[in-house]
Amino acid sequence: MLLCPVRDCHMALGREERRLLCPRGHSFDVARSGYINLLQPQERRSKHPGDSAAAVAARRRLHDRGVTEPLLHAIAEMMVAGPRDIVLDAGCGDGFYLGTLARQTGFDAHGVDISTPAVDAAARRYRGCEWIVANADRFLPYADRSFSIVLSITARMNAGEFRRVLRDDGGLLVALPAPEDLVELCGAGRDRVVRTVETFAHDFTLVDQRRVATAADLDAAAVHDVLLSIYRPMRAQPTEAMRVTFSLDLLLFRAVSGRCRLWIGSRSRVRSGMCRTR
Ligand SMILES: C[S@@+](CC[C@H](N)C(=O)[O-])C[C@H]1O[C@@H](n2cnc3c(N)ncnc32)[C@H](O)[C@@H]1O
Ligand SMILES: [Zn+2]
Repeated sequence: MLLCPVRDCHMALGREERRLLCPRGHSFDVARSGYINLLQPQERRSKHPGDSAAAVAARRRLHDRGVTEPLLHAIAEMMVAGPRDIVLDAGCGDGFYLGTLARQTGFDAHGVDISTPAVDAAARRYRGCEWIVANADRFLPYADRSFSIVLSITARMNAGEFRRVLRDDGGLLVALPAPEDLVELCGAGRDRVVRTVETFAHDFTLVDQRRVATAADLDAAAVHDVLLSIYRPMRAQPTEAMRVTFSLDLLLFRAVSGRCRLWIGSRSRVRSGMCRTR
């Protein structure tokens, strides 16, 4: 299923014990923690692209505190995955969502992120999944129609590549920060739903939509972790304990020109192209 990332090659990669090899002889080592780096030099703008080790560690501490547990439950409920699914998470970060859901459900899990520290952290903790360093905005190094579900959780939105690697009956779940997300730290954000639906309109149809929110009482260290893990400009730099809201807009799409098993299986609430927020 993995393809060689070398430009103008893109042949299937075969596995040897500690490396992957394409028929043209391009070879990629498996890292000690188990991930595979398929990022090509021309696909990155800096030496250390994506989230820094500090941001990855801060986000993991927040996940580990249980702050994002209600968001995880809402994502699980909406994606309706089963053990036969093959799931790609584009911009998987430290692997929390994909790795936890794979353990709960038993599906075949594949995570991609451009940040080596993120993918390394994911591979160390969630050994049963496959973790790849790649630029999800460019070429996703997988064969056409490899996946039954693609996830993008506050991460990348490459509609063309998502559609290519998704089966015709597949589902795409996109999670966006909702306007109230981190409102105490950043003020109210933009509503990004309409623009996101437009981004995917050529390849996908929106079939379900939900807004999920949770609030957590964070100590000063956890507030600092939130600040470390975000990129938005901050109105203030609090160093005190405070209650912080976490909120996501979840959008479930089906691929255009394909029957959507997820749509049929889930309790879709969208009629005549209109959707509502629960
Ligand atoms: C806000 S974080 C979300 C991480 C994870 N989905 C979560 O919710 O915990 C965004 C992630 O996208 C990754 N990223 C940024 N640009 C990327 C790209 N071009 N391709 C793949 N991943 C990228 C970052 O390294 C980071 O891990
Ligand atoms: Zn090759």
